[in-house]
Amino acid sequence: MNEGAQNSRHRTHQPSLNPMKTLVIVSHPYPDQSQAIRALQQTAQALPNVEVRNLETLYGHDTTAFDVAAEQKAHEGVNRVVYLFPIHWFNLTPMLKAYLNQVWTYGWAFGPDGKALAGKEMQVVVTAGATAHTYSAQGLIHSSIEEVLTPMKASAFYVGMPYAEPLAFFEAMGASGDKLTGFQQALQARLTAPLGDALVA
Ligand SMILES: Cc1cc2nc3c(=O)[nH]c(=O)nc-3n(C[C@H](O)[C@H](O)[C@H](O)COP(=O)(O)O)c2cc1C
Repeated sequence: MNEGAQNSRHRTHQPSLNPMKTLVIVSHPYPDQSQAIRALQQTAQALPNVEVRNLETLYGHDTTAFDVAAEQKAHEGVNRVVYLFPIHWFNLTPMLKAYLNQVWTYGWAFGPDGKALAGKEMQVVVTAGATAHTYSAQGLIHSSIEEVLTPMKASAFYVGMPYAEPLAFFEAMGASGDKLTGFQQALQARLTAPLGDALVA
């Protein structure tokens, strides 16, 4: 056996020195009324090597209260960052928008030395009250969920994060039973898939 083959055989039998680590940032403006996001958060929390940070749990609704150093530190060693939130008026939640404004700082996320997020995959996961048809060119809003989420895609590329296809759960208002279980299974499948599996072209 040549050295290359030996090395590659050796590698496949070694435990990974750099295990996949995922950070999940969750935001929901009315957590007490949440079914879908609550269940999806529980799914993420049950997975190994996943840290969940719920912005309203940590900071309430105070858009100025972020512990920026702690939020930035939570990204250390992370390969995939997930943003989990309900679509409200075809937009991010107020706390998630404020989080981006304050945590993604110049010199950390962007600027000449701001490379902290570069190379970490961005996975957006949303719940929406409307139907999949509503989120289509023929539907009421004449826009796909991918188009609605363009600010996240643009932000990802701006800071050098490979951007995965968003995972969207439609007709999520009041979801329960099998529907909720289906959402949870789809999220688990996406979070346990290898990096790069669902990247946009
Ligand atoms: C103030 C508000 C605005 C909403 N705006 C939208 C919207 O723009 N598009 C949409 O599809 N659903 C919208 N919804 C529905 C929520 O997205 C839906 O109820 C939520 O995703 C379900 O998840 P939950 O059970 O965790 O709350 C809105 C709901 C509220 C309360």
